[in-house]
Amino acid sequence: MTTMRKRALIKMIGLSAVSLAALTACGKKEEAPAPAAAPAVQAPAADKLKVGFMYVSPIGDGGWTFQHELARKAVQEKFGDKIETSMVESVPESADAERVMRDMAGQGNKLVFATSFGYQDFVQKVAADLKDVKFEHATGYKTADNVAVYDTKTFEGAYLAGIVAGAMTKTKTVGVVASVPIPEVVRNINSFVLGAQSIDPAIKAKVVWVNEWFAPPKESEAATSLINGGVDVMYQNTNSPAVLKTAEERGVRAFGKDGDMSAFAPKAHLGSAVIDWTPYYTKVVDDTLAGKWQTGNFWWGVKEGAIDLKKIADDVPQEIKDKVEKARAGLKDGSFAVWTGPIKDNSGKEVLAAGKVADDAFLRGINFYVKGIEGTVPGAK
Ligand code: GUN
Repeated sequence: MTTMRKRALIKMIGLSAVSLAALTACGKKEEAPAPAAAPAVQAPAADKLKVGFMYVSPIGDGGWTFQHELARKAVQEKFGDKIETSMVESVPESADAERVMRDMAGQGNKLVFATSFGYQDFVQKVAADLKDVKFEHATGYKTADNVAVYDTKTFEGAYLAGIVAGAMTKTKTVGVVASVPIPEVVRNINSFVLGAQSIDPAIKAKVVWVNEWFAPPKESEAATSLINGGVDVMYQNTNSPAVLKTAEERGVRAFGKDGDMSAFAPKAHLGSAVIDWTPYYTKVVDDTLAGKWQTGNFWWGVKEGAIDLKKIADDVPQEIKDKVEKARAGLKDGSFAVWTGPIKDNSGKEVLAAGKVADDAFLRGINFYVKGIEGTVPGAK
């Protein structure tokens, strides 16, 4: 990453010294080709598995992409000279993604991780042409012989955060800055609110959509409008710490998501729902090296160590921390599921009967708001 680019990024999201250090370390070794670069074909070292990672936002986003980058570095460290990883950051969910993946393949990468939902159709197109490359698409649902999909149960982290939110809101109104209206994001919003309502069923929620994964100024504006509307505890499904930083400025509370965002807003921070992609990336690289890679649909959660609520604030009552721990333990041993009926949507209709546990098909198709959330899901009928 160039110095100019780093400066622009720091200006944009106001990176803390902590993240800046991490970002500088990240950018040193594996400088990746620019998205628009002409394909450079090199002879890959025959004994090394080359693995490419494609990211939608900058590695310094402090959240979604930062966590993928940490996991990339962890697998590089773990497998040493058996693999050679590289990454390209800030690749839009457009034809640019197709170009980057073809370029990665041209450079000898035999395993490619495409780490954003909107890459889905580009992955399918490139994978159909390049049968000797294995593709891993994060959060999608379209597989092929050489395409696997994988995701983290981010909704479990959202629920744990919701428990804390339910205890800490004084206005009894929580809010979410939402990104792109796909079931995953709607599920996370709902799960956060279900967690809050497990403490107080009367809690209400407001949502503002920014329609992008990474747009710090828009994320801040959305947070401001939630606060102006009476929200005093916020969650977010966007990639940057902008919501937390806005909370810090305005004297309300918020959560980090995807990464540990505590350093960005020491007073506002209530906890961070942190994703760890390392266990999954380790499994895939291991399988590929052993010639055992296979397609499939992998969805790991608290149980597999892929997500957890970290760094719960000191002023959260112990009784609430204990409730988080109980839910976490239940998710780990399978005795508790976030989506257990009775659950009603915000029109009062029962969507899950008492005692019924939602299956994956239900979870993957959620396009309604639960009781207590204002408004309607964009595009829902
Ligand atoms: N791309 C960037 N952030 C996200 C996210 O939270 N979910 C999905 N599906 N794709 C992303």
